Formats: sequence, C-alpha cells, structure tokens
Amino acid sequence: MAYEPRILGIFCNWCSYSGADYAGTARMKIAPNLRIVRVMCSGRVEPAHILEAFKTGADGVLVAGCHPGDCHYISGNHRTARRLPLLAVMLQQLGIEKERLRFEWISASEGKELAQIAEQMTETLRGLGPLELDLSPESVVEEVAHV
Ligand code: FES
Repeated sequence: MAYEPRILGIFCNWCSYSGADYAGTARMKIAPNLRIVRVMCSGRVEPAHILEAFKTGADGVLVAGCHPGDCHYISGNHRTARRLPLLAVMLQQLGIEKERLRFEWISASEGKELAQIAEQMTETLRGLGPLELDLSPESVVEEVAHV
C-alpha cells in the first residue's frame, strides 16, 4: 500500500480555521492527509505541541495563523513566525527535516490557498517518506556527539 503522509494542522480560530471552513463550505478539494485542530491563536502553539505531534505519528505539522496585522491578540502570529524557524533548526538535530514543519499565514478568505498549501506539503512529505523518529537515549547521545 502506498505511503500517505499524516499532516497535523494547528490553525488559529479567527483566520486560518475560518479559511479551512470556507474551503469546506465552498466544496474545495483539500488533501485528506491534513487533519486540523483549532487553537485560539497561532501564538498559543508551543514547541512541545509540535514535538508531541511528531512523537505520536505526524509526518508533518502545518501551523497557520492570521496575516501580519490581523492577529486578534495583536502579536501572537509574530511570536510564532519568530519561534518556528528556531524550532525547525532544533528539530533537525532530532532527524526531523525542516520541510516537515511549515508556518503559513492563511486568512478566512484563503480557502484556495489552503488547498494549495495542503497539496504541496503532502507532495513534499511523500518525497521525504515516513518520519522515523528515534528518541532513544543512544540516538540522542549520538546526535549530540556530532554537534
Ligand atoms: Fe490568528 Fe493570532 S488570532 S494568529
């Protein structure tokens, strides 16, 4: 059976989740690989949430928030935009390719863009293959030794 990546979407309630809702209402085709959970703001997404997603079987994580200037909590999306690239660098130390974590601005009217992003990410992850995460102490020690 062909490999199909599992993507966890963590979407802010006000813009990105509404965009997903709009895409569904408009009957746009969105890759079924993407499963979305809703948070009030992308700034609420902690590195621990993303690590847990990878630990529990996600092949990719897509965090989506309001465009700059539109965050309902003023600067939550800016925090996330600064935090996630740093996390992506750290994840590489665990063998998690940076392409497996993606952050996007998606507004309530951007259902089409969401569909494109989900398709692109699915294709990228198909190319990378399943995430084989080894968090055993031996593996972590070996990674640290190469730093
Ligand atoms: Fe959407 Fe903050 S409310 S990113």
